[in-house]
Amino acid sequence: MSDVGRRERVFEGAVRVLTTNHRVGTSAWLDERGALRRYEFTCPSPRSYPFQWFWDSCFHAIALTHVDLDWAKAELRSLVAGAQPDGLLPHILFWERERYLDVMRGQTLRLRGPYVSASIQPPVIALAIDRVFRATGDRGFLAEVLPRAEAFFRWLRDRRDPDGDELIAIVQPDESGVDASPKYDPLLGYPKNNDELVAAINAIYARYEQLPADEHAIVAANVFVVEDVLVNSIYAQGLQALARLSPEPEASEYGAWARRVLDALVDRCYDEERGLFLDLLGRAERRTATNTISAVFPLIVDGLDERIAARLIEHLRRPEEYALPYPVPSVARNEPAFDPDHPRGFIWRGPTWINTNWFLARALLARGDDDLAQHIADKTRELIDSQGYRECYNPLTGEGQQSRDFSWSTLVIDMPDREAR
Ligand code: GLC
Repeated sequence: MSDVGRRERVFEGAVRVLTTNHRVGTSAWLDERGALRRYEFTCPSPRSYPFQWFWDSCFHAIALTHVDLDWAKAELRSLVAGAQPDGLLPHILFWERERYLDVMRGQTLRLRGPYVSASIQPPVIALAIDRVFRATGDRGFLAEVLPRAEAFFRWLRDRRDPDGDELIAIVQPDESGVDASPKYDPLLGYPKNNDELVAAINAIYARYEQLPADEHAIVAANVFVVEDVLVNSIYAQGLQALARLSPEPEASEYGAWARRVLDALVDRCYDEERGLFLDLLGRAERRTATNTISAVFPLIVDGLDERIAARLIEHLRRPEEYALPYPVPSVARNEPAFDPDHPRGFIWRGPTWINTNWFLARALLARGDDDLAQHIADKTRELIDSQGYRECYNPLTGEGQQSRDFSWSTLVIDMPDREAR
């Protein structure tokens, strides 16, 4: 099979998925002036995920820079239209809520209002704005969306870092985007399946209902508090994007802020013996023991010490950990919790996902590790060509899993491609 043919098929498939999942309309959700809001976004997958999810949308906008620049801008404009008065950018916007009440009922959710969740997802927004701005050069777009992203980063610092250690906390597993990752199991009573996980999350929400609707009170209650390495790596990378997008003196301020987050990751989460970064669980900040894909994520942050980066890359090269036939699995193979064939919903416990492959392949390329970057990208193209745009894939067999026509898997068209260079 020729690689040229594969590249074309993968690209055409991406255009088809992004077009099929494009949603435009008017929502019954009223804006501040009482007018109906217009939306334009890409849903993650038509049947299972019909709403606008936060980090998904950022990935969609980045993929769309190769397909349709107006759509890329519209995606982020709709996303920041969900900004709350205090600066929160919610993890889901339920634009077409009335059409999908059944899907909504099937989700475990903490809501701020009928159309918005009260949770976060990793702050990919600054990087997405940077990419769309570089592709379009549209300063009007930048002026419109950037202040909302900046306000969100301030919200994260002010509301989610009450101990002032520069690392932000998540207060329920879905906030990391890697929902059911086994790294959280000690805080959730070691769920054995999705039903047990959902019960554990619902118990967290029930506790939050009894607390004042205040982020500091929620963190102080210590029901589920994690300083998550993947989330904080994306936070630091986002601050570096804000630095690129801002004039002085803000640029230097964002740069210094990013540096403080990276230093805190190294000081507090880096396990020198294992050569991995480990999340801090609970307010007592106990390091999780599980080796998941998060543990290598500081690779995406510019300025990470070269010696530490080299140690992280060693893990990606080991067949007993991450160098599986279809890399990069969400959990190291030699972990007892590694499950390449999870039952429905119990996700991020082994399968390979395209968004994490995209982050890592680009980071490896930026660090000069062309071969590994290219290998991950080639294997990703192979997966998609043989299985289609699925939500995730079995890292041993390559079999596609979960939702079909999954939009963020189109990030493949933004991955390193030696042939196309
Ligand atoms: C799953 C993923 C989450 C994603 C959502 C919508 O819950 O774990 O990261 O945002 O689906 O695609």
